[in-house]
Amino acid sequence: MRILGTGSALPKLTVTNDRLAGFLDTSDEWIATRTGIRERRLLSDETLQSLAETASTRALENAGVAPGEIDFVLVTTVLAETLTPALAMDIQPAVGLKCMGLDLNAGCTGFVAALALAKGMMESGQARRILLVSAEALSRFVDWNDRTTCVLFGDAAAAVVLGEGEGVKAIAFDAEPRREVLCAETPPGNSPFAVDPAPATYLKMAGQEVYKFAVSHSLRDIRAMLDMQGLRPEDVDYYLLHQANLRILEGVRTRLRVDEARFPHDIEFTGNTSSCSVPLLLDVMNRDGRLTPGSRLIFSAFGAGLCTGTAYVEW
Ligand code: UT7
Repeated sequence: MRILGTGSALPKLTVTNDRLAGFLDTSDEWIATRTGIRERRLLSDETLQSLAETASTRALENAGVAPGEIDFVLVTTVLAETLTPALAMDIQPAVGLKCMGLDLNAGCTGFVAALALAKGMMESGQARRILLVSAEALSRFVDWNDRTTCVLFGDAAAAVVLGEGEGVKAIAFDAEPRREVLCAETPPGNSPFAVDPAPATYLKMAGQEVYKFAVSHSLRDIRAMLDMQGLRPEDVDYYLLHQANLRILEGVRTRLRVDEARFPHDIEFTGNTSSCSVPLLLDVMNRDGRLTPGSRLIFSAFGAGLCTGTAYVEW
């Protein structure tokens, strides 16, 4: 399987750190120093579905693939606008698709996890061209009174078109189930039979625990992938890490002893966009010409579960 094209879409509203400091006990200095984030894009009058549709259309155009050639759609999202049908079905009329689709949730690891499913589907002959869309709007379920979480996230959609070829070489996962470190709950519903349904919570995160997990596991997983491929750290052109915190990227980069240019980032302008962050950065790099045929890439994502996913890709 290889990546034939990329696309993305961001909400039009840009929210700076200073704007957040207007209603939260926080500052541009704290957010920028601790995370690298300077601003993020947040949904206002558009929908997550419309972002997913635009990202999909752009990816198809970039790939030179007609919508009718897509035979499966995978969407990664923590929470779409509707519970059912899946966002992977709802985007189809606007994008011109007509095929089976389903939504997947593996938190911020979703994109890498879905790549593995797509690869399996292609290798088993189930599909020949797959549209993989990551669409996230964490602004809808973070607590906007909680400065420890709401300042971190942004909304976005990003898509790739996948087809047959030699590109996505290997994908690996790891997991350490620890729900207390990062979770958000759905409302309990109104079943008269449910016993004491617990009230729903907004997203809660033990930031430092996730931070330690992210640095140690990403590093270990990347090293394992390099070993498996017979590569040295400097043989990889770009490491596309989940954009959760610039300090996490730096922690991994310095331990791998590679130069800064190999660890691209756009978190300054997007915040943490969960499963979108890797394909969003990939689209930026595809369009600005940083990716050339044969570029060696490592994708590394981590998040709720907790779980991690690592992929080695030749462009
Ligand atoms: O994609 C999901 C994966 N998520 C992540 O990867 C997140 C990983 N974790 C992190 O990125 C960092 O742990 C955070 C950015 C979340 C927090 O940074 P930190 O350096 O670990 O800060 P901290 O949690 O130790 O908090 C330090 C202080 C605390 O105050 P006290 O107790 O020292 O008085 C916090 O209350 O900073 C305070 N604080 C803030 N201050 C101003 C927490 N959030 C804010 C804020 N503005 N927004």
